[in-house]
Amino acid sequence: MLGTPCLLWLLAVTFSLGPRAQPLAPRDLEEEGDETSQPPLPVVPCDYDRCRHLQVPCLELQRAGPTACLCPGLSSPAQPPDPPRLGEVQVVAEAGRAVVRWCAPFSPVHQYWLLLSEGSGAPQKGPPLNSTVRRAELKGLKSGGTYVVCVVAANAAGESSVSGAGGEGGLDGAGGPVLGPCGRLAVPPRPLTLLHAAVGVGAALALLSCSALCWHFCLRDRWGCPRRAAARL
Ligand SMILES: *[C@@H]1O[C@H](CO)[C@@H](O)[C@H](O)[C@H]1NC(C)=O
Repeated sequence: MLGTPCLLWLLAVTFSLGPRAQPLAPRDLEEEGDETSQPPLPVVPCDYDRCRHLQVPCLELQRAGPTACLCPGLSSPAQPPDPPRLGEVQVVAEAGRAVVRWCAPFSPVHQYWLLLSEGSGAPQKGPPLNSTVRRAELKGLKSGGTYVVCVVAANAAGESSVSGAGGEGGLDGAGGPVLGPCGRLAVPPRPLTLLHAAVGVGAALALLSCSALCWHFCLRDRWGCPRRAAARL
């Protein structure tokens, strides 16, 4: 007799709470989803590499792509871009050329250009490059010369800073890869110059040997060698 009210109460609780509790959670989720966007967001990043040469801007990939994808967040277009990150610099010493690579900043960029300064000279501005470009060639470099190269990004609000342009800040002591927009660039002497240097050293050595031989055979005879002088006595 005591079991029946208990069972009834249990049933009542199950039927009153159960059906009410179950739809609550999905309805909450639906309401949240409605506020942001209707289809569920796929968490697929766009095929965008900020270091890839001729990379189409991510927002264009997003617009053109068949499926939605995610782009990295960018700084405000009302601010000048952050500095790009200089990457590998390949020097072709024989041709006096260097290929400079960089990675885009997380900022809207309209164009890039390079700044090249030799030693402590004033930086020279290269031609403007469109926002897809991540690689540029420097020509007319002197063999044995050392340069500082910086990448500048610009948009409607201004241009990125080059903290390392004067040889400070963005550069590490060894001139290795750095995380800033600038890097040091050393063009090794041409092989021909090395050959000249080798010939020079060889000539100097030959001259030294000749002098030694000359001293040995001529001068020693004239002034006498201490050992021979002693033997004559
Ligand atoms: C950007 O410049 C590169 C190299 O000069 C060129 O191949 C490319 O077509 C240009 N892209 C646009 C959108 O102008």
